[in-house]
Amino acid sequence: MNLKNQHVIVIGGASGIGYEIAKAAQAEGAKVTIGGRNRAALDHALETLGNGVVGEMIDVTRPDLVNGFFSKIDKVDHIAITAAHLEGAGALSQMAESDLRLQVDVRLMGATHVIRAAAPKLSPLSSVTLTSGLAVSKPLPNEALGAAAAAALECLARTLAVEMAPVRFNVVAPGMCDTGFLHRFLGAQGDAIISHVASSLPVRRIGTPEEVAQAYLFLMKMGYITGETLHIDGGHRLI
Ligand SMILES: NC(=O)c1ccc[n+]([C@@H]2O[C@H](COP(=O)([O-])OP(=O)(O)OC[C@H]3O[C@@H](n4cnc5c(N)ncnc54)[C@H](OP(=O)(O)O)[C@@H]3O)[C@@H](O)[C@H]2O)c1
Repeated sequence: MNLKNQHVIVIGGASGIGYEIAKAAQAEGAKVTIGGRNRAALDHALETLGNGVVGEMIDVTRPDLVNGFFSKIDKVDHIAITAAHLEGAGALSQMAESDLRLQVDVRLMGATHVIRAAAPKLSPLSSVTLTSGLAVSKPLPNEALGAAAAAALECLARTLAVEMAPVRFNVVAPGMCDTGFLHRFLGAQGDAIISHVASSLPVRRIGTPEEVAQAYLFLMKMGYITGETLHIDGGHRLI
């Protein structure tokens, strides 16, 4: 299977890993639509992606907006969802209630809304690739509910791989990946933390969004994988 003329939809495609998925799919000849909440970020991404990529506003926490997004789309071949609420992380006992709720509402319920809205437009050869993360397998302080929501997403993918077969559902679980979000998350100590973690990893570096994006493309094209979680973490789970 290749992506030429396939319609690839990337929710979260205006930045980071999602942007690189869009770029890589476009390079393989796919028709690409990216979605996100922020019109300016979408427009900026469209400017740099060029070449026919379409950008539409979507907030995955709002089923009405998700349905509106998919009502403009005729055919869906592959969906990648990277959207997550990445702000306001902290110790469970100290996080704002709104941030706790959004951890679940964006990653888990958001993916659920997208899958439900897209379902009538999927074909038997379609795939949906979700995003979890290292924190599911390797407990990391201050990420409890985000990790729990991501773990639920892995279960959602395995269940839907059976319930909605032959549509394939898989998950990419990135480890530390060099995106704008990571630097915002780590703050002023970011470079020092990254170089400390990098030196401890079996591969001696953190990941790039370009290489993590390749995992999504692999899962779109590899028609014999479903219900799987692919760990792209440079061996971080092993140490
Ligand atoms: N980078 C890492 O080290 C790392 C490690 C492990 C896991 N991950 C996972 O990888 C994914 C992508 O992360 P990233 O580093 O590429 O960060 P990112 O660039 O901030 O990507 C997140 C995207 O989600 C979109 N988004 C957030 N809330 C949304 C909503 N309600 N509706 C629609 N879109 C929404 C954001 O766009 P708007 O704000 O414009 O809507 C943004 O484009 C996340 O799920 C993250 O948890 C990343």
